[in-house]
Amino acid sequence: MGKTIIISNRLPVQLQISNGDITAIPSVGGLATGMKSVHSGGDSLWIGWSGLTDEEIPKALAPKIDKALSEHGSSKVNLTADEVDGFYFGFSNRTIWPLFHYFLEYSEFELDNWNIYKQVNQKFADAILKVANDDDIIWVHDYQLMLVPQMVREKKPNISIGFFLHIPFPSFEIFRTLPWREEILEGLLGSDLIGFHTYDYERHFLSSVRRLLGLEVSFNDIHMDERVIKVDSFPMGIDYKKFSEAALKNQNTPPGEQSELQRRLYKHKKTDPDAKFFLSIDRLDYTKGIAKRLNAFEYFLNKYPQYKEKVRLIILAVPSRSNVPQYQLLKREIDELVGRINGEFSTVSWTPIWYFYRSMPFENLIDLYTTCDIAWLTPIRDGMNLVAKEYIATRTDRTGVLILSEMAGSANEMNEAILINPNNFEQTADALNQAITMPVEEQQERNRVLQKRLERYNVEKWANDFMGSLLDQKEKDFSHV
Ligand code: UDP
Ligand code: G6P
Repeated sequence: MGKTIIISNRLPVQLQISNGDITAIPSVGGLATGMKSVHSGGDSLWIGWSGLTDEEIPKALAPKIDKALSEHGSSKVNLTADEVDGFYFGFSNRTIWPLFHYFLEYSEFELDNWNIYKQVNQKFADAILKVANDDDIIWVHDYQLMLVPQMVREKKPNISIGFFLHIPFPSFEIFRTLPWREEILEGLLGSDLIGFHTYDYERHFLSSVRRLLGLEVSFNDIHMDERVIKVDSFPMGIDYKKFSEAALKNQNTPPGEQSELQRRLYKHKKTDPDAKFFLSIDRLDYTKGIAKRLNAFEYFLNKYPQYKEKVRLIILAVPSRSNVPQYQLLKREIDELVGRINGEFSTVSWTPIWYFYRSMPFENLIDLYTTCDIAWLTPIRDGMNLVAKEYIATRTDRTGVLILSEMAGSANEMNEAILINPNNFEQTADALNQAITMPVEEQQERNRVLQKRLERYNVEKWANDFMGSLLDQKEKDFSHV
Protein backbone atom coordinates (compact mmCIF):
# COMPACT_ATOMS: atom_id res chain seq x y z
CA MET A 1 0.00 0.00 0.00
CA GLY A 2 1.27 3.48 -0.86
CA LYS A 3 0.78 6.78 0.87
CA THR A 4 -2.48 8.49 1.83
CA ILE A 5 -3.26 11.78 0.13
CA ILE A 6 -5.78 13.97 1.95
CA ILE A 7 -7.35 16.65 -0.19
CA SER A 8 -9.60 19.46 1.02
CA ASN A 9 -10.07 23.14 0.35
CA ARG A 10 -8.79 24.11 3.82
CA LEU A 11 -5.38 23.00 5.01
CA PRO A 12 -4.64 22.48 8.72
CA VAL A 13 -3.15 25.99 8.74
CA GLN A 14 -4.01 29.23 6.98
CA LEU A 15 -1.20 31.44 5.80
CA GLN A 16 -1.21 35.17 6.32
CA ILE A 17 1.26 37.85 5.33
CA SER A 18 2.09 40.35 8.03
CA ASN A 19 4.97 42.82 8.03
CA GLY A 20 6.27 41.22 4.85
CA ASP A 21 6.55 37.78 6.41
CA ILE A 22 4.49 34.59 6.44
CA THR A 23 2.58 33.41 9.51
CA ALA A 24 0.65 30.16 9.77
CA ILE A 25 -2.47 30.20 11.93
CA PRO A 26 -4.56 27.11 12.74
CA SER A 27 -7.64 26.72 10.54
CA VAL A 28 -11.06 26.84 12.19
CA GLY A 29 -13.95 24.47 11.44
CA GLY A 30 -14.68 20.81 12.04
CA LEU A 31 -12.95 19.44 8.95
CA ALA A 32 -9.59 21.04 9.70
CA THR A 33 -9.62 20.50 13.49
CA GLY A 34 -10.69 16.86 13.13
CA MET A 35 -8.46 15.85 10.23
CA LYS A 36 -5.48 17.57 11.85
CA SER A 37 -5.45 14.90 14.55
CA VAL A 38 -5.62 12.13 11.94
CA HIS A 39 -2.94 13.71 9.76
CA SER A 40 -0.43 14.39 12.54
CA GLY A 41 -0.32 10.72 13.52
CA GLY A 42 0.46 9.20 10.13
CA ASP A 43 2.38 9.29 6.92
CA SER A 44 0.08 11.36 4.77
CA LEU A 45 0.28 14.32 2.46
CA TRP A 46 -2.41 17.01 2.70
CA ILE A 47 -3.18 19.07 -0.41
CA GLY A 48 -5.31 22.22 -0.23
CA TRP A 49 -5.54 25.97 -0.59
CA SER A 50 -3.22 28.13 1.52
CA GLY A 51 -5.80 30.86 2.18
CA LEU A 52 -3.82 33.36 0.05
CA THR A 53 -4.58 34.20 -3.58
CA ASP A 54 -1.82 34.22 -6.20
CA GLU A 55 -2.06 38.01 -6.35
CA GLU A 56 -1.41 38.29 -2.60
CA ILE A 57 1.80 36.27 -2.67
CA PRO A 58 4.93 38.31 -3.42
CA LYS A 59 7.31 36.30 -5.63
CA ALA A 60 10.07 36.53 -3.06
CA LEU A 61 7.91 34.80 -0.45
CA ALA A 62 6.82 31.83 -2.61
CA PRO A 63 9.60 29.43 -1.43
CA LYS A 64 8.93 30.40 2.18
CA ILE A 65 5.28 29.51 1.72
CA ASP A 66 6.09 26.06 0.41
CA LYS A 67 8.44 25.54 3.34
CA ALA A 68 5.87 26.74 5.90
CA LEU A 69 3.30 24.32 4.48
CA SER A 70 5.66 21.37 4.21
CA GLU A 71 6.32 21.74 7.95
CA HIS A 72 2.64 20.80 8.33
CA GLY A 73 2.88 17.89 5.86
CA SER A 74 0.97 19.99 3.35
CA SER A 75 1.30 21.35 -0.14
CA LYS A 76 -0.79 23.97 -1.86
CA VAL A 77 -3.03 24.42 -4.87
CA ASN A 78 -2.61 27.95 -6.23
CA LEU A 79 -5.79 29.95 -6.74
CA THR A 80 -6.23 33.38 -8.30
CA ALA A 81 -8.50 35.99 -6.71
CA ASP A 82 -11.10 35.35 -9.45
CA GLU A 83 -11.02 31.63 -8.78
CA VAL A 84 -11.45 32.14 -5.03
CA ASP A 85 -14.36 34.43 -5.81
CA GLY A 86 -16.22 32.07 -8.12
CA PHE A 87 -15.28 28.75 -6.56
CA TYR A 88 -15.09 29.46 -2.81
CA PHE A 89 -17.23 32.53 -2.09
CA GLY A 90 -19.40 31.80 -5.11
CA PHE A 91 -20.45 28.24 -5.94
CA SER A 92 -19.29 26.59 -2.67
CA ASN A 93 -20.66 29.14 -0.24
CA ARG A 94 -23.47 30.89 -2.11
CA THR A 95 -24.94 27.81 -3.83
CA ILE A 96 -24.03 24.49 -2.21
CA TRP A 97 -23.64 25.54 1.44
CA PRO A 98 -27.06 27.21 1.73
CA LEU A 99 -28.81 24.58 -0.41
CA PHE A 100 -27.43 21.61 1.51
CA HIS A 101 -28.41 23.30 4.81
CA TYR A 102 -32.00 23.84 3.58
CA PHE A 103 -31.59 27.62 3.13
CA LEU A 104 -33.05 27.41 -0.34
CA GLU A 105 -33.84 31.10 -0.48
CA TYR A 106 -30.13 31.99 -0.03
CA SER A 107 -28.96 29.72 -2.87
CA GLU A 108 -27.79 31.44 -6.05
CA PHE A 109 -27.59 29.49 -9.29
CA GLU A 110 -24.93 31.35 -11.30
CA LEU A 111 -23.55 29.64 -14.40
CA ASP A 112 -20.25 31.56 -14.19
CA ASN A 113 -19.63 30.34 -10.65
CA TRP A 114 -20.43 26.77 -11.65
CA ASN A 115 -17.89 26.97 -14.49
CA ILE A 116 -15.21 28.26 -12.11
CA TYR A 117 -16.11 25.52 -9.60
CA LYS A 118 -15.45 22.92 -12.34
CA GLN A 119 -12.21 24.60 -13.34
CA VAL A 120 -10.91 24.75 -9.76
CA ASN A 121 -11.96 21.16 -9.01
CA GLN A 122 -9.86 20.20 -12.04
CA LYS A 123 -6.92 22.09 -10.52
CA PHE A 124 -7.23 20.07 -7.31
CA ALA A 125 -7.54 16.83 -9.30
CA ASP A 126 -4.40 17.74 -11.31
CA ALA A 127 -2.51 18.44 -8.08
CA ILE A 128 -3.38 14.91 -6.93
CA LEU A 129 -2.50 13.33 -10.26
CA LYS A 130 0.88 14.99 -10.18
CA VAL A 131 1.95 13.14 -7.02
CA ALA A 132 -0.25 10.03 -6.87
CA ASN A 133 0.86 6.47 -7.63
CA ASP A 134 -1.58 3.67 -8.40
CA ASP A 135 -1.22 2.11 -4.95
CA ASP A 136 -1.90 5.38 -3.07
CA ILE A 137 -5.15 6.12 -1.28
CA ILE A 138 -6.90 9.37 -2.09
CA TRP A 139 -9.23 10.83 0.55
CA VAL A 140 -11.22 13.81 -0.77
CA HIS A 141 -13.13 16.04 1.65
CA ASP A 142 -16.26 18.10 1.54
CA TYR A 143 -18.62 20.07 -0.65
CA GLN A 144 -16.00 22.30 -2.24
CA LEU A 145 -14.51 19.32 -4.11
CA MET A 146 -17.40 17.12 -5.18
CA LEU A 147 -16.20 16.74 -8.79
CA VAL A 148 -12.67 15.71 -7.88
CA PRO A 149 -13.28 11.94 -7.45
CA GLN A 150 -14.53 11.51 -11.03
CA MET A 151 -11.75 13.74 -12.41
CA VAL A 152 -9.10 11.59 -10.76
CA ARG A 153 -10.86 8.31 -11.70
CA GLU A 154 -10.80 9.27 -15.39
CA LYS A 155 -7.01 9.37 -15.39
CA LYS A 156 -6.32 6.68 -12.81
CA PRO A 157 -9.09 4.07 -13.10
CA ASN A 158 -7.65 1.68 -10.49
CA ILE A 159 -6.67 4.02 -7.71
CA SER A 160 -8.58 3.94 -4.36
CA ILE A 161 -10.68 7.04 -3.82
CA GLY A 162 -12.75 7.84 -0.73
CA PHE A 163 -14.95 10.91 -0.32
CA PHE A 164 -16.35 12.29 2.93
CA LEU A 165 -19.04 14.98 3.10
CA HIS A 166 -18.80 17.08 6.28
CA ILE A 167 -22.14 18.84 5.80
CA PRO A 168 -25.69 17.44 5.48
CA PHE A 169 -26.82 15.88 2.22
CA PRO A 170 -30.33 17.31 1.74
CA SER A 171 -33.49 15.46 0.84
CA PHE A 172 -34.19 14.78 -2.84
CA GLU A 173 -36.83 17.55 -2.94
CA ILE A 174 -34.15 20.11 -2.08
CA PHE A 175 -31.28 18.61 -4.06
CA ARG A 176 -33.34 18.35 -7.24
CA THR A 177 -33.56 22.17 -7.45
CA LEU A 178 -29.83 22.38 -8.30
CA PRO A 179 -29.36 22.94 -12.04
CA TRP A 180 -26.14 20.86 -12.09
CA ARG A 181 -27.44 18.03 -9.87
CA GLU A 182 -26.50 15.13 -12.20
CA GLU A 183 -22.93 16.40 -12.67
CA ILE A 184 -22.45 16.68 -8.91
CA LEU A 185 -23.67 13.11 -8.35
CA GLU A 186 -21.50 11.78 -11.17
CA GLY A 187 -18.51 13.63 -9.74
CA LEU A 188 -18.99 11.97 -6.35
CA LEU A 189 -19.51 8.55 -7.94
CA GLY A 190 -15.90 8.53 -9.10
CA SER A 191 -15.19 7.38 -5.52
CA ASP A 192 -15.06 3.79 -4.24
CA LEU A 193 -16.53 4.84 -0.90
CA ILE A 194 -18.71 7.86 -0.04
CA GLY A 195 -19.11 8.68 3.66
CA PHE A 196 -21.61 10.85 5.54
CA HIS A 197 -21.97 11.81 9.20
CA THR A 198 -25.44 10.27 9.60
CA TYR A 199 -27.68 7.60 8.16
CA ASP A 200 -30.23 10.26 7.11
CA TYR A 201 -27.71 12.06 4.86
CA GLU A 202 -26.71 8.70 3.37
CA ARG A 203 -30.35 7.82 2.70
CA HIS A 204 -30.97 11.19 1.01
CA PHE A 205 -27.95 10.71 -1.22
CA LEU A 206 -28.98 7.20 -2.27
CA SER A 207 -32.47 8.40 -3.06
CA SER A 208 -31.09 11.18 -5.32
CA VAL A 209 -28.79 8.71 -7.10
CA ARG A 210 -31.68 6.36 -7.73
CA ARG A 211 -34.14 9.02 -8.85
CA LEU A 212 -31.87 11.30 -10.84
CA LEU A 213 -29.43 8.85 -12.40
CA GLY A 214 -31.65 5.76 -12.45
CA LEU A 215 -28.81 3.61 -11.09
CA GLU A 216 -29.32 0.32 -9.36
CA VAL A 217 -28.90 0.62 -5.59
CA SER A 218 -28.84 -2.49 -3.43
CA PHE A 219 -28.69 -1.75 0.30
CA ASN A 220 -25.84 0.74 0.37
CA ASP A 221 -24.08 -0.35 -2.81
CA ILE A 222 -24.47 1.60 -6.05
CA HIS A 223 -23.86 -0.29 -9.28
CA MET A 224 -22.42 1.85 -12.04
CA ASP A 225 -20.84 0.50 -15.23
CA GLU A 226 -18.47 -2.22 -14.02
CA ARG A 227 -17.97 -0.62 -10.62
CA VAL A 228 -19.61 -0.89 -7.19
CA ILE A 229 -19.60 2.23 -5.04
CA LYS A 230 -20.23 1.85 -1.35
CA VAL A 231 -22.09 4.50 0.65
CA ASP A 232 -22.03 4.50 4.45
CA SER A 233 -22.30 6.67 7.54
CA PHE A 234 -19.29 7.43 9.72
CA PRO A 235 -20.12 9.95 12.48
CA MET A 236 -16.97 11.98 13.03
CA GLY A 237 -15.52 12.01 16.53
CA ILE A 238 -13.03 14.25 18.32
CA ASP A 239 -9.53 13.81 19.68
CA TYR A 240 -11.01 13.00 23.08
CA LYS A 241 -7.71 12.62 24.91
CA LYS A 242 -6.43 15.97 23.69
CA PHE A 243 -9.49 17.77 25.11
CA SER A 244 -9.79 15.87 28.39
CA GLU A 245 -6.07 16.18 29.12
CA ALA A 246 -6.04 19.88 28.25
CA ALA A 247 -8.97 20.38 30.63
CA LEU A 248 -7.17 18.62 33.49
CA LYS A 249 -4.07 20.70 32.89
CA ASN A 250 -6.17 23.85 32.72
CA GLN A 251 -7.80 23.17 36.08
CA ASN A 252 -4.44 22.51 37.73
CA THR A 253 -2.78 25.66 36.38
CA PRO A 254 -1.36 27.71 39.29
CA PRO A 255 -3.05 31.17 39.54
CA GLY A 256 0.14 32.95 38.43
CA GLU A 257 0.19 31.03 35.14
CA GLN A 258 -3.51 31.26 34.27
CA SER A 259 -4.59 33.10 31.14
CA GLU A 260 -6.19 36.50 31.48
CA LEU A 261 -9.52 35.00 30.37
CA GLN A 262 -9.36 32.16 32.90
CA ARG A 263 -8.55 34.60 35.72
CA ARG A 264 -11.48 36.82 34.82
CA LEU A 265 -13.88 33.92 34.55
CA TYR A 266 -12.77 32.56 37.94
CA LYS A 267 -13.11 36.02 39.48
CA HIS A 268 -16.72 36.28 38.35
CA LYS A 269 -17.46 32.77 39.60
CA LYS A 270 -16.02 33.66 43.00
CA THR A 271 -18.08 36.85 43.33
CA ASP A 272 -21.31 34.92 42.83
CA PRO A 273 -20.88 31.14 43.11
CA ASP A 274 -24.55 30.51 42.25
CA ALA A 275 -24.44 32.45 38.99
CA LYS A 276 -24.48 30.35 35.82
CA PHE A 277 -22.50 30.80 32.63
CA PHE A 278 -24.12 29.77 29.34
CA LEU A 279 -21.68 29.12 26.50
CA SER A 280 -22.30 29.50 22.78
CA ILE A 281 -19.44 28.81 20.30
CA ASP A 282 -19.81 28.76 16.52
CA ARG A 283 -18.43 30.21 13.34
CA LEU A 284 -20.57 33.24 12.55
CA ASP A 285 -22.85 31.40 10.14
CA TYR A 286 -26.61 31.64 9.56
CA THR A 287 -26.91 27.84 9.85
CA LYS A 288 -25.75 28.03 13.47
CA GLY A 289 -28.85 29.87 14.74
CA ILE A 290 -26.95 32.53 16.72
CA ALA A 291 -29.52 35.28 16.14
CA LYS A 292 -32.31 32.91 17.13
CA ARG A 293 -30.39 31.99 20.28
CA LEU A 294 -30.14 35.67 21.23
CA ASN A 295 -33.87 36.18 20.74
CA ALA A 296 -34.53 33.04 22.77
CA PHE A 297 -32.29 34.40 25.54
CA GLU A 298 -34.39 37.54 25.73
CA TYR A 299 -37.52 35.37 25.84
CA PHE A 300 -35.99 33.33 28.65
CA LEU A 301 -35.12 36.40 30.75
CA ASN A 302 -38.71 37.60 30.42
CA LYS A 303 -40.22 34.20 31.18
CA TYR A 304 -37.91 33.48 34.14
CA PRO A 305 -37.12 36.95 35.58
CA GLN A 306 -35.72 35.34 38.74
CA TYR A 307 -32.55 34.58 36.75
CA LYS A 308 -31.78 38.22 35.95
CA GLU A 309 -28.31 39.01 37.34
CA LYS A 310 -27.83 35.26 37.90
CA VAL A 311 -26.97 34.10 34.41
CA ARG A 312 -24.57 35.28 31.75
CA LEU A 313 -24.40 34.26 28.10
CA ILE A 314 -20.89 34.08 26.64
CA ILE A 315 -20.94 34.12 22.85
CA LEU A 316 -17.87 33.30 20.80
CA ALA A 317 -18.66 33.94 17.13
CA VAL A 318 -15.70 33.16 14.89
CA PRO A 319 -15.45 35.33 11.73
CA SER A 320 -16.24 33.27 8.64
CA ARG A 321 -16.70 33.85 4.88
CA SER A 322 -17.09 37.56 5.42
CA ASN A 323 -17.12 38.33 1.67
CA VAL A 324 -20.52 36.64 1.34
CA PRO A 325 -23.38 39.17 1.78
CA GLN A 326 -25.51 36.88 3.99
CA TYR A 327 -22.66 36.66 6.49
CA GLN A 328 -22.23 40.44 6.52
CA LEU A 329 -25.95 40.93 7.16
CA LEU A 330 -25.88 38.36 9.93
CA LYS A 331 -22.92 40.07 11.59
CA ARG A 332 -24.87 43.32 11.66
CA GLU A 333 -27.98 41.57 13.01
CA ILE A 334 -26.02 39.93 15.82
CA ASP A 335 -24.23 43.17 16.75
CA GLU A 336 -27.60 44.89 17.00
CA LEU A 337 -29.26 42.11 18.98
CA VAL A 338 -26.42 41.96 21.51
CA GLY A 339 -26.55 45.74 21.88
CA ARG A 340 -30.32 45.80 22.27
CA ILE A 341 -30.54 42.94 24.79
CA ASN A 342 -27.64 44.24 26.85
CA GLY A 343 -29.20 47.71 26.73
CA GLU A 344 -32.56 46.36 27.87
CA PHE A 345 -31.42 44.17 30.77
CA SER A 346 -28.01 45.40 32.01
CA THR A 347 -27.68 46.74 35.54
CA VAL A 348 -24.72 48.52 37.14
CA SER A 349 -23.30 45.17 38.22
CA TRP A 350 -24.47 42.88 35.41
CA THR A 351 -24.07 42.61 31.65
CA PRO A 352 -26.12 39.63 30.47
CA ILE A 353 -24.17 38.93 27.25
CA TRP A 354 -20.42 38.85 26.70
CA TYR A 355 -19.79 38.80 22.98
CA PHE A 356 -16.48 37.92 21.33
CA TYR A 357 -16.19 38.22 17.54
CA ARG A 358 -12.85 36.53 16.87
CA SER A 359 -11.26 33.11 16.92
CA MET A 360 -9.59 31.98 20.12
CA PRO A 361 -6.43 29.96 20.67
CA PHE A 362 -6.96 26.39 21.85
CA GLU A 363 -6.04 27.23 25.49
CA ASN A 364 -8.76 29.89 25.68
CA LEU A 365 -11.34 27.54 24.17
CA ILE A 366 -10.51 25.15 27.00
CA ASP A 367 -10.89 28.03 29.52
CA LEU A 368 -14.41 28.59 28.21
CA TYR A 369 -15.38 24.91 28.05
CA THR A 370 -14.19 24.20 31.60
CA THR A 371 -15.72 27.26 33.30
CA CYS A 372 -19.15 27.39 31.65
CA ASP A 373 -21.93 25.48 33.40
CA ILE A 374 -24.18 25.10 30.40
CA ALA A 375 -23.25 24.74 26.71
CA TRP A 376 -26.07 26.06 24.55
CA LEU A 377 -25.45 24.86 20.98
CA THR A 378 -28.52 25.09 18.84
CA PRO A 379 -27.82 25.25 15.11
CA ILE A 380 -30.77 25.46 12.74
CA ARG A 381 -29.02 22.82 10.65
CA ASP A 382 -25.50 21.39 11.15
CA GLY A 383 -23.70 18.43 9.53
CA MET A 384 -22.22 17.33 12.86
CA ASN A 385 -21.21 20.02 15.44
CA LEU A 386 -17.96 19.00 17.08
CA VAL A 387 -18.10 21.80 19.65
CA ALA A 388 -20.81 19.83 21.49
CA LYS A 389 -18.49 16.82 21.73
CA GLU A 390 -15.51 18.95 22.78
CA TYR A 391 -17.52 20.55 25.62
CA ILE A 392 -18.44 17.17 27.08
CA ALA A 393 -14.86 15.86 26.79
CA THR A 394 -13.54 18.74 28.92
CA ARG A 395 -15.94 18.17 31.83
CA THR A 396 -13.46 16.24 33.94
CA ASP A 397 -15.65 16.20 37.09
CA ARG A 398 -18.64 15.32 34.87
CA THR A 399 -20.69 18.36 35.86
CA GLY A 400 -22.12 20.61 33.16
CA VAL A 401 -25.20 20.48 30.96
CA LEU A 402 -25.36 20.37 27.19
CA ILE A 403 -28.38 21.84 25.42
CA LEU A 404 -28.16 20.71 21.81
CA SER A 405 -30.27 21.21 18.72
CA GLU A 406 -32.07 18.19 17.29
CA MET A 407 -30.95 19.51 13.90
CA ALA A 408 -27.23 18.89 14.58
CA GLY A 409 -25.78 15.62 13.27
CA SER A 410 -24.19 15.06 16.69
CA ALA A 411 -27.66 14.87 18.31
CA ASN A 412 -27.92 11.32 16.92
CA GLU A 413 -25.14 10.21 19.23
CA MET A 414 -25.85 12.51 22.18
CA ASN A 415 -29.25 11.50 23.42
CA GLU A 416 -28.27 12.23 27.03
CA ALA A 417 -28.00 15.96 26.25
CA ILE A 418 -31.14 18.11 26.49
CA LEU A 419 -32.23 18.00 22.85
CA ILE A 420 -34.41 20.84 21.63
CA ASN A 421 -35.91 22.39 18.51
CA PRO A 422 -34.21 25.81 18.24
CA ASN A 423 -37.32 27.33 16.66
CA ASN A 424 -39.34 26.64 19.80
CA PHE A 425 -38.61 29.47 22.27
CA GLU A 426 -40.93 28.08 24.92
CA GLN A 427 -39.07 24.77 24.90
CA THR A 428 -35.70 26.58 24.82
CA ALA A 429 -36.52 28.73 27.84
CA ASP A 430 -37.72 25.66 29.76
CA ALA A 431 -34.58 23.74 28.75
CA LEU A 432 -32.40 26.54 30.16
CA ASN A 433 -34.39 26.43 33.40
CA GLN A 434 -34.05 22.63 33.49
CA ALA A 435 -30.29 22.94 32.94
CA ILE A 436 -29.89 25.51 35.73
CA THR A 437 -31.83 23.41 38.22
CA MET A 438 -30.51 19.98 37.18
CA PRO A 439 -29.13 18.09 40.22
CA VAL A 440 -25.37 17.49 40.07
CA GLU A 441 -25.86 13.69 40.23
CA GLU A 442 -28.05 13.80 37.13
CA GLN A 443 -25.50 15.95 35.26
CA GLN A 444 -22.77 13.49 36.14
CA GLU A 445 -24.78 10.46 35.11
CA ARG A 446 -25.64 11.96 31.72
CA ASN A 447 -22.05 13.03 31.11
CA ARG A 448 -20.65 9.69 32.25
CA VAL A 449 -22.54 7.94 29.46
CA LEU A 450 -21.68 10.62 26.90
CA GLN A 451 -17.98 10.64 27.79
CA LYS A 452 -17.72 6.89 27.53
CA ARG A 453 -19.20 6.98 24.05
CA LEU A 454 -17.10 9.92 22.85
CA GLU A 455 -13.91 8.39 24.16
CA ARG A 456 -14.62 5.16 22.28
CA TYR A 457 -15.86 6.71 19.04
CA ASN A 458 -13.02 9.21 18.76
CA VAL A 459 -11.63 10.80 15.61
CA GLU A 460 -8.97 8.14 15.23
CA LYS A 461 -11.60 5.41 15.17
CA TRP A 462 -13.61 7.43 12.67
CA ALA A 463 -10.64 7.68 10.30
CA ASN A 464 -9.68 4.01 10.78
CA ASP A 465 -13.26 2.86 10.13
CA PHE A 466 -13.43 4.93 6.95
CA MET A 467 -10.03 3.76 5.69
CA GLY A 468 -10.77 0.14 6.60
CA SER A 469 -14.02 0.26 4.69
CA LEU A 470 -12.31 1.86 1.68
CA LEU A 471 -9.68 -0.88 1.57
CA ASP A 472 -12.34 -3.61 1.87
CA GLN A 473 -14.24 -2.04 -0.98
CA LYS A 474 -11.18 -2.01 -3.20
CA GLU A 475 -10.48 -5.68 -2.47
CA LYS A 476 -14.07 -6.57 -3.31
CA ASP A 477 -13.83 -4.61 -6.54
CA PHE A 478 -10.69 -6.50 -7.61
CA SER A 479 -12.27 -9.85 -6.78
CA HIS A 480 -14.96 -9.03 -9.42
CA VAL A 481 -12.34 -8.66 -12.15
N1 UDP B 1 -12.77 26.36 16.92
C1 UDP B 1 -11.53 26.90 16.76
N2 UDP B 1 -11.30 28.18 17.16
C2 UDP B 1 -12.29 28.95 17.72
C3 UDP B 1 -13.56 28.39 17.87
C4 UDP B 1 -13.77 27.09 17.45
O1 UDP B 1 -10.62 26.22 16.27
O2 UDP B 1 -12.04 30.11 18.07
C5 UDP B 1 -12.96 24.96 16.48
C6 UDP B 1 -13.73 24.10 17.47
O3 UDP B 1 -12.86 23.66 18.49
C7 UDP B 1 -14.26 22.98 16.58
C8 UDP B 1 -14.42 23.66 15.21
O4 UDP B 1 -13.75 24.93 15.29
O5 UDP B 1 -13.34 21.92 16.48
C9 UDP B 1 -15.86 23.88 14.83
O6 UDP B 1 -16.37 22.66 14.37
P1 UDP B 1 -17.92 22.35 14.30
O7 UDP B 1 -18.07 20.96 13.81
O8 UDP B 1 -18.57 22.61 15.63
O9 UDP B 1 -18.53 23.42 13.28
P2 UDP B 1 -18.07 23.92 11.82
O10 UDP B 1 -17.34 25.21 12.04
O11 UDP B 1 -17.23 22.85 11.23
O12 UDP B 1 -19.34 24.16 11.06
C1 G6P C 1 -17.39 23.56 7.74
C2 G6P C 1 -17.09 22.91 6.41
C3 G6P C 1 -15.59 22.88 6.13
C4 G6P C 1 -15.00 24.28 6.29
C5 G6P C 1 -15.37 24.86 7.65
C6 G6P C 1 -14.86 26.29 7.83
O1 G6P C 1 -16.88 22.75 8.74
O2 G6P C 1 -17.64 21.61 6.39
O3 G6P C 1 -15.33 22.41 4.83
O4 G6P C 1 -13.59 24.24 6.14
O5 G6P C 1 -16.78 24.86 7.80
O6 G6P C 1 -15.28 27.10 6.78
P1 G6P C 1 -14.28 27.80 5.75
O7 G6P C 1 -15.16 28.34 4.68
O8 G6P C 1 -13.58 28.84 6.56
O9 G6P C 1 -13.32 26.77 5.26
